[in-house]
Amino acid sequence: MTAPQTDGAGLERSVWPSEQVVHQVDSTIALTHFDDMDALSTGLVDYLVRCEREYRANTPKDSFGVGGTKIYHVDAWPVAGARLLDERAQAMFRETVGHPTSAVDLSWGNVYRAGDYIIPHAHRRSTGSVVYVLSLGDIDAADRLSGRFAIADSRLPLCNHDDNIQKFTPCMPPLKAGSMIVFPSSVVHFVTPYRGEDRPRITLSWNINAKPLAGRPQDDDASIPPHPEDTSPVEP
Ligand SMILES: [Fe+2]
Repeated sequence: MTAPQTDGAGLERSVWPSEQVVHQVDSTIALTHFDDMDALSTGLVDYLVRCEREYRANTPKDSFGVGGTKIYHVDAWPVAGARLLDERAQAMFRETVGHPTSAVDLSWGNVYRAGDYIIPHAHRRSTGSVVYVLSLGDIDAADRLSGRFAIADSRLPLCNHDDNIQKFTPCMPPLKAGSMIVFPSSVVHFVTPYRGEDRPRITLSWNINAKPLAGRPQDDDASIPPHPEDTSPVEP
């Protein structure tokens, strides 16, 4: 887990820094923060904004509730830092879930613009989900809940706060640029509407299993492009 990796810009970083601290949000949800990503963030943001513009030039948005613009397959992005984050997401999964192996079923970036949000959902093809915050975008002084990642699942004790006013509230972990959170893919989560008018809010996501799962996500969702290294035909 501590083997160094050259990130493509000639910068060598440990996949898992020796002093990395992981906080347990609850028994199945964990949070960490990488302090060494500043030099790589600008390039990643620029790359994703470029991809977003190219995609939106041909594909108008048909909903604000699907998590903005998705750019798939993090490990295949030709930009410094993408492979490092892909390795870190898998390391976070292995560390938290306790499996010695990991296999990414699907990964993607979300570029949120003003008005974008994602409705409550869970993922069906994986056991663990990881989210990395590349940029929170613009901080909205008028709405502290703008663009917040939230877990809202009645099965989790951390969402049940019987304080005589509310019996249930979503959990919004304290995420910032560089934060990475892992949670069971079956846990219901969402992102509140982002209101930033200038910079986008950008996150990276992974759905991960201990071993590769049969089939592929794009077999059920034609909007997902095949991985560049996957040349097998899509199931009819
Ligand atoms: Fe999700």
